[in-house]
Amino acid sequence: MIEERLYREVLLERLENPVAQGVLTKPDLEARLVNPICGDEVLIQLKVKNHIIEQAVYSGDGCAISQVSASFLAESITGKKLEKIRKIKKNDILNLLGINPGPSRLKCALLSLEVLQKAVDQ
Ligand code: FES
Repeated sequence: MIEERLYREVLLERLENPVAQGVLTKPDLEARLVNPICGDEVLIQLKVKNHIIEQAVYSGDGCAISQVSASFLAESITGKKLEKIRKIKKNDILNLLGINPGPSRLKCALLSLEVLQKAVDQ
């Protein structure tokens, strides 16, 4: 139960104080995906200079885990090289979240990573 309480606190804290949430008017790269099962969506936009991410923002509408993971992910990639983004894996997202969402919510946690890699692969 302690783990579940901490899990909720992490999500609520980030939901109430979102980091890297926003919309860029002229992003260099962007992608949006919708989870076909629930309809939740995440948009990630990047400003890139010399193959380095200068700014990353997310927006969207969806469950707490999808939006919180997008926030943590966007925050974590600022200042990183594009080639490093391509190497981000499932476990990196789970480490950012600091929790294991369980099999039923794994798709929620990984939606933002799918979006980010789609944006970078353009
Ligand atoms: Fe839709 Fe989580 S329930 S992404």
